[in-house]
Amino acid sequence: MLAVAVLAAGKGTRMKSELPKVLQPIAGATLVERVLSSCEALEPERRLLIVGHQAERVEHSLAAHSGLEFVLQQPQRGTGHAVQQLLEPLAGFQGDLLVLNGDVPLLRPQTIAELVERHRASGAAVTLLSARLVDPTGYGRVFADGAGNVSGIIEHRDCTDAQRDNTLTNAGIYIFNWPKLAAVLPQLRADNDQGELYLTDTVALLRPAMHLEVADPDEINGINDRLQLAQCEAVLQQRLRQHWMREGVTFVDPASCTLSDRTVFGRDVLVEPGCHFRGANQIGDGCHIGPGSLLENAHLGRNVEVLYSVVREARVADDCAIGPFAQLRPGADLAADCRVGNFVEIKKSRIGAGSKVNHLSYIGDAELGERVNVGAGTITANYDGVAKHRTVIGSGSKTGANSVLVAPIALGANVTVAAGSTLTKDVPAGALALGRARQLVKQNWQPRQDAADAAATPPAAAPEPR
Ligand code: UD1
Ligand code: MG
Repeated sequence: MLAVAVLAAGKGTRMKSELPKVLQPIAGATLVERVLSSCEALEPERRLLIVGHQAERVEHSLAAHSGLEFVLQQPQRGTGHAVQQLLEPLAGFQGDLLVLNGDVPLLRPQTIAELVERHRASGAAVTLLSARLVDPTGYGRVFADGAGNVSGIIEHRDCTDAQRDNTLTNAGIYIFNWPKLAAVLPQLRADNDQGELYLTDTVALLRPAMHLEVADPDEINGINDRLQLAQCEAVLQQRLRQHWMREGVTFVDPASCTLSDRTVFGRDVLVEPGCHFRGANQIGDGCHIGPGSLLENAHLGRNVEVLYSVVREARVADDCAIGPFAQLRPGADLAADCRVGNFVEIKKSRIGAGSKVNHLSYIGDAELGERVNVGAGTITANYDGVAKHRTVIGSGSKTGANSVLVAPIALGANVTVAAGSTLTKDVPAGALALGRARQLVKQNWQPRQDAADAAATPPAAAPEPR
């Protein structure tokens, strides 16, 4: 039997933020979500989350995760006090308790699985994760013998100078035999620099206590301030890029790009410098992204090119070319072989196969058929100040430069709209629509002579200052 408890009640004072620390985002997920997902594979019988500071907000952020038990710690008097709150909900529980600090987001699931395995094989009362850090400032130090037996943990601020030279560091990840831990939890005392009840103090009270040293010290990075947040983000980004490079994605300048772990790439994708992928993107085989593009929850088919553009909550089918400098907003849905060029914005619109919107256009709440050619500067005027209205353009139609289509409006198939038209009424298939002032030409016309004279006279000089 395994129960998992995530400590997430602390304020995170050192972050200097309105947001509780465990809700800080990192590579597209909150800290606490990352910690929870690192132990998902173990399929624990119970999953408890200790909340306190802004408890409701933390609970609300995890509403989509089912089966979590929220345990309130109020006030927050330290990590030992946090785990004391489990005495009641876990009364009578006979299994192991895995405790994860909510601010240690880089743990690999295999590492936690190994910790659980090692603990069960040795029959220890507690097994904790440790690492040798080059700079363990701020972390608790683990005192252990060569055989892996731990005598105790001392927090950085409570260490003597000599004790601080010990670089074996406490990760804040422990697996306890719960009945044994429950027996010693009430003995904790706040006789330390912070006046808190430390979970780490239980280790000296439990025998045998063992540690497992991780090979990659980055895994145990804890986040207490924004510097550590940025360092952990960098580690996660590096991991994600390396993963996708191994899967067949080319990054021209990997360090200049950021990924989220819900982004999935096909084979032979080329990512040029300065591209950012947020949320759950799907990028098909052979796509060419960038340089300089932002994609968020975008679905791209195969061989799509996106150059210096933003694609958010939009779908783009095979062989389309987007950009440079285009914006596909939520609900843009492009069929295969479309072209979207510079300074074009498309929102909540379906664009049929082979259509082109190449220059300076806004297409919103529209339905375009196939092979439509949208002329430079065409605008769908979709908003009348109160409601949004639809524009329909049939297959094979062309709009001239600088056309305004005032919605609601429907153009049939193979319609031609003359340049500079403002259309307010539907146009049947096959028609030419003109909606502009007729050009007037006056032959042999000269400006009036007196007006021309006035224009030619230089303005009177300003008076000399006295
Ligand atoms: C803790 C460990 C330290 C270890 C480090 C690893 C203790 C006493 N120290 O220090 O040995 O090296 O983690 O990152 O445990 N929390 C609560 N309730 C509280 C206080 C904290 O739920 O009353 C939660 C926090 O939200 C956080 C976690 O416990 O997620 C750790 O707390 P934090 O204050 O960051 O402990 P550290 O000083 O980092
Ligand atoms: Mg911490």
